[in-house]
Amino acid sequence: MQQIISSYQEAPSNIAIVKYWGKKGIQEPMNPSLSFTLKKAFTKVNISYEVSDEELTLDFLFEGKQKDSFIPKLESFIQNIQRLLPYLKSGKLLIESENTFPHSSGIASSASSMAAIAKALADINLKLGNTFINQEATVSEIARLGSGSACRSTQYGWVLWGQTYILEQSSNLYGIETNKMVHPNFDQLQDSILVIRKGAKSVSSSVGHSLMNNHYYQEGRIKQANDNIAKVITALKDGDFNTFSEVCEEEALSLHGLMMSSSPGYTLMAPETLAAINKLKQFREENDIPLTYTLDAGPNIHILYQKQYSEIIKSFIENQLAPLCEDQMVIFDELSMQSN
Ligand code: PMV
Repeated sequence: MQQIISSYQEAPSNIAIVKYWGKKGIQEPMNPSLSFTLKKAFTKVNISYEVSDEELTLDFLFEGKQKDSFIPKLESFIQNIQRLLPYLKSGKLLIESENTFPHSSGIASSASSMAAIAKALADINLKLGNTFINQEATVSEIARLGSGSACRSTQYGWVLWGQTYILEQSSNLYGIETNKMVHPNFDQLQDSILVIRKGAKSVSSSVGHSLMNNHYYQEGRIKQANDNIAKVITALKDGDFNTFSEVCEEEALSLHGLMMSSSPGYTLMAPETLAAINKLKQFREENDIPLTYTLDAGPNIHILYQKQYSEIIKSFIENQLAPLCEDQMVIFDELSMQSN
């Protein structure tokens, strides 16, 4: 008789404060990174697995439509994780995925997609009667093998990935959730995303990571990230928004600085990115309101602030920054500490 096992899972997108940039070995990071997960931007995945002795076959539907362009990435991911999930050597796999955020919003979906897929594959493994010694860590490890930053999206809230002397249990293989140590000042942290450009970025993050291998600043970058992890963890523990802001901005600009100084170098900021950063700094100085920003590997800006300042900051964003965005698009999101 045909045996089909299914799993529905969700996973949030995340934004890094200390950036993962550069890898070594099999998708291990050159430096530790720390991010928080978002509430509105997440991926929903349904996987059905039909047990059989035949060699594994794979189908992928994105928003209800066959998306064959993603199949090679998924195939090499599955090869990498067969060691952890041996059932994936045979059978029929159907992966259906959709995002809660528009796909032309410039928000990277690889972290949330790979995290949701990892959760569903691990759940099917559990339903087949197999267990891991540490389920949470292994799910994160599976996600990491799909896309590095995805290992920070299998859990909610503040997640640290990569070995650091600051936390003994930290690992290059998986992310660990650190919510308990975070001061209530950071509860309900708001993240308003200025969508400066909607399209996909011109240089993929895997190319960016590989350019770190021979980067002149590699050693300095690794030291900077380690120092910033220590600084930001202290700031999060103390509820110190000012130091948090310093680290955020230093990391955002360093990430782009590393891209510009790679061989070959490249720029992912747009003129509007710089214009928005300047306006934001001016607004902060004039009004003495705490807000900060970070950038991903692209032109869009994440503006971070505490909930009590929402009203004034949102009206500043709508009036002064939205006009710099493509079709005035701003996504008002926030930190998620648990599933919706
Ligand atoms: O997980 P990847 O390979 O897409 O790399 C993500 C890199 C950054 O988003 C720029 C930084 C980070 O830590 O998320």
